[in-house]
Amino acid sequence: MSRSTITIDPVTRIEGHAKITIQIDENGHVEDARFHVTQLRGFEKFCEGRPFLEMPSLTARTCGICPVSHLIAAAKACDGILAVTIPRPASMLRQVLNLAQLVQSHALSFFYLSLPDFLLGMDEDPKVRNLFGILAKFPDVARDGVRLRQFGQSVIEELAGKRIHPSWVVPGGVNEPLTESRRDAILSRIPEALAIVRRALERGKRVLEDHREEIRTFANFPSLFMGLVDDRGLLEHTDGKLRIVDAHGKIIGENLDSTRYREFIAEANEGDSFLKSPYYRPLGYPAGIYRVGPLARMNIVDGCGTPLADQEWAEFRDLERGAVLSSFHYHYARLIEILYGVERMEQLLLQRDILSKHVRAQANVNNAEGIGIAEAPRGTLIHHYRVNEDGLVEWANLIIATGHNNLAMNRGILQAARHFISGRTLTEGALNRVEAVIRAFDPCLSCSTHASDQMPLHVSVVNQAGEILDQKIRG
Ligand code: MG
Ligand code: NI
Repeated sequence: MSRSTITIDPVTRIEGHAKITIQIDENGHVEDARFHVTQLRGFEKFCEGRPFLEMPSLTARTCGICPVSHLIAAAKACDGILAVTIPRPASMLRQVLNLAQLVQSHALSFFYLSLPDFLLGMDEDPKVRNLFGILAKFPDVARDGVRLRQFGQSVIEELAGKRIHPSWVVPGGVNEPLTESRRDAILSRIPEALAIVRRALERGKRVLEDHREEIRTFANFPSLFMGLVDDRGLLEHTDGKLRIVDAHGKIIGENLDSTRYREFIAEANEGDSFLKSPYYRPLGYPAGIYRVGPLARMNIVDGCGTPLADQEWAEFRDLERGAVLSSFHYHYARLIEILYGVERMEQLLLQRDILSKHVRAQANVNNAEGIGIAEAPRGTLIHHYRVNEDGLVEWANLIIATGHNNLAMNRGILQAARHFISGRTLTEGALNRVEAVIRAFDPCLSCSTHASDQMPLHVSVVNQAGEILDQKIRG
């Protein structure tokens, strides 16, 4: 057999569009594996010339999956241009909104996209291995997933008025205070959400026992980890400063202000993908590989800061002496974050000044530049704008969570492909495991591509002459 290429296009059960290419040598051994994002968004160019005040609502439209994250990162960049410190109640309300999206998005990732693999089996027929399969065999679990997503969405709705593209978050704060009745409506739903996530965590921990091989081979390697922490070093998604730790869990960058991000992050362009590959500048490319998102956040913090999540976090960190390195544990970390999110929302909503009328600082353009950093469900999101005297955007740079993880995802699919694929026969289970590495990272391809309809999955083994040696078509 000559050198062959296996293409998985598009990756199923992740949002957006991408493909995986696996190159096989003449002996049937995996030589290389690549994760491609093949469509260019060009969103940064599109922002040029727009009034900066429009940036939150404009950038929220880049993504139907994580609009709230863009809203918050953009509003923070605009706070910087206004040169204001937003009122404390506004900051807490932004936090609640961001946590609601975190819960909603993590619930989608765990229950809808990944549980079919865990409960029905990685080797199961894809016709059955989906949410409907869960519904048929484990109706209570499917119901939990639906209810938890509804909870997150309902909180977004109580705060921001509509589910998609809320424009409630504005430069300087939020545009309307929270009412007592809406606050109470959210609080009344917390006990059910808490019960669901505790059941999910128990189930999730049992899943770990059945997936030792995946834990060992799903992007399991040393790397750096990055994310926001608060001023006590605890879990933080909306405010705070960046922290970077190494694979031993040692802090190598602390208290990193947003204005300094370019000192430690550089972006490489790889020819075959429009998704850039950020790397840790001091180590260079590609050695400066780092991960963001739930796993990274669990690795960088000194604790979560809520009672139940702290217990789970301590147990999680006991998995390894240093940082937890297997990307399979993104799933575990995601569940702990849902627990934290629900607990933390309640803490914030019980603060006396959460109902304050003072939720917005007014100012004009006072800085020509603004940088906003927030933690999206999938990891650190950076918005950086430069404006002219009239407040029109002259230049914008967005670094999305999926980009930070690009190098790690690539290395991860290569590791899994080498372990699970051999020869020219493509088993369903092997291909699904390669895809499942990507699903562990829960990439938001909607942020980095034009959203497109799901197409049938086309998997092929092709030789150098372009002859198809084996193929599978899904969907
Ligand atoms: Mg960019
Ligand atoms: Ni997105």
